[in-house]
Amino acid sequence: MNGFAPYDPDSTRRPTESAISVRPAVAADLAVCAELIVTRTGGSAEDRRERLLTDLEQADRYVAVACAESEVIGYGGVFHYELTPEYPTAPTGYYLVGLIVAPTWRRYGIGELLTLDRMRWTAERADEIHYFANLANNATLDLHQRLGFTEVTRNFTFPNSPLKPGTGVLLKAPLSR
Ligand SMILES: CC(C)(COP(=O)(O)OP(=O)(O)OC[C@H]1O[C@@H](n2cnc3c(N)ncnc32)[C@H](O)[C@@H]1OP(=O)(O)O)[C@@H](O)C(=O)NCCC(=O)NCCS
Repeated sequence: MNGFAPYDPDSTRRPTESAISVRPAVAADLAVCAELIVTRTGGSAEDRRERLLTDLEQADRYVAVACAESEVIGYGGVFHYELTPEYPTAPTGYYLVGLIVAPTWRRYGIGELLTLDRMRWTAERADEIHYFANLANNATLDLHQRLGFTEVTRNFTFPNSPLKPGTGVLLKAPLSR
C-alpha cells in the first residue's frame, strides 16, 4: 500500500453543502491530524501528535487544517529547511509537506485550498516554495502542477524521506504577495 489516492483524472470535483474552512491549526486539532498522517506513514499517532505540537511552536513552520463545519478533515504543513552538505540537491527554503485529506473528503477541492493557504503563508516570507513527491503519486502531482509548480529535478534526496533518487521529483513554484 503506497497511501496514494487512486488516480482518476476523468472524474470531476464534487460539490458539498458543508461549510469548508482552512485555518492555522491549534493544539486541539493535532490528534486528528496525527491519525490522518499515520494512515499513510505508519508509526505512532501519539508520537506524531507530539511532533506536530512542536511544529506549532516554531516560527519557521506552519500547520494548516481544513475543516468541514467544525470537523478536521485535512492537514498540510510548511517548514523551512537549511541545506546540509549530505543532501546537496535539496536547496535551502520553505517546503510544503505532509498534505493529506480524509478519504471521504477527497475531490472536493480541499487539498487545493490547503495548498493555496500554505502558499499564502509562505509568500509573506519568501518568493518561492518547494515541494517533493513520489513520481507515482499522480493525484498530488496534478494538484500542485495546477498551482504553478514545475519540476526542478528527479535526482535529489532529502533527510528522512524514503524517496530514492529517480523515484521522486522536486518541484518549486514562484510566490508573490
Ligand atoms: C493528494 C490529496 C491531498 C488531494 O486532495 P483532494 O482534496 O482530494 O484534492 P482536490 O479535490 O483539491 O483536487 C485538486 C486537483 O488535484 C487533482 N486531483 C486530486 N485528486 C486526484 C485524483 N485522485 N485523481 C486525479 N486528479 C486528482 C485534480 O486536478 C484536482 O482538480 P479538479 O478537482 O478540478 O479535478 C489526497 O488525494 C490525499 O490525501 N492523498 C493521500 C495523501 C497524499 O498522497 N498526499 C500527498 C503527499 S506528497
